[in-house]
Amino acid sequence: MTLYVIGKPIKHSLSPIIHNFWINKYKLSLEYKKMEVEKDFLPSLIKDVRNGKVTGLNITIPYKRDIIKFIDEISNTAKDIGAINTVFLKRDKVYGDNTDGIGFTRALEKKKNFNFFNKSIYVLGAGGASHGIISELIKKKVKTIYVANRTKQKTIKLLNFFKNKNNNVDLKFVDWENLVPNSDVDLIINTTSFGMNENEALKIDTRNLKTTLILVDIIYNPRETKLIKLFRKEGFFCMNGLCMLIEQAAVSFELWFNISLNNKDIEEVKKICEASY
Ligand code: ATR
Repeated sequence: MTLYVIGKPIKHSLSPIIHNFWINKYKLSLEYKKMEVEKDFLPSLIKDVRNGKVTGLNITIPYKRDIIKFIDEISNTAKDIGAINTVFLKRDKVYGDNTDGIGFTRALEKKKNFNFFNKSIYVLGAGGASHGIISELIKKKVKTIYVANRTKQKTIKLLNFFKNKNNNVDLKFVDWENLVPNSDVDLIINTTSFGMNENEALKIDTRNLKTTLILVDIIYNPRETKLIKLFRKEGFFCMNGLCMLIEQAAVSFELWFNISLNNKDIEEVKKICEASY
């Protein structure tokens, strides 16, 4: 029995290290592998899930949206996000879910005991990861979500998408060229791939920020983006994307095997990941 994480590129994925550790720990007789695939291979992979040859899939960039049309049944969370990262057979149907958003909120709740209720959150990016996180922030009843993205049209599209689904959270447009978060902001989240190149520095004004502000950059390689370095230097608590990666993997694992992982399982795998890159 085999599980795969599929995407393109997939070389640097830490998912096999994470899942194989838990698979061995819980003595499950299967293997988790990575597979780089072309888009036209997606239907045959889903067929293999349907006929039981493949136990489950994680989907990563760039196929989280493309996969939707081949799936029989989609969770409400994945519908809200418009993307799937976890696939398995449920009551003879190929089922798709998304664990990215919950992975993010769990990571911060555990690490900082962070309570999202009524908070003001500043989100950079309007892609798949941003949709996943914002969908979960809305469920947690935050007060305000500010969104900025390089391509303005995508910010507007994202804001309209979520405005149509809720009228409790205040969703606000921010110009990417003028990132000046004010003192009501509790949390800044970078969901863009900007900063993966270690020389890239985002221009963001930190002058008005409250001292308790938290910065999360969902990039985990490099471990410290320039954005994290800047905020850390100014004394703010910062977190990279490794905890989120592990937490979203734990939720997928639970969906596949009905095993809920404890904090020790999470911490053990975190150490292994940190030593691996
Ligand atoms: P993911 O699923 O990881 O979110 P995605 O859907 O491709 O991936 O979204 C990538 C995000 O990173 C987008 O918000 C993208 O901005 P655009 O909408 O303008 O493309 C952002 N991004 C990628 N490279 C960037 C860069 N060099 N500068 C600023 N934003 C960048």
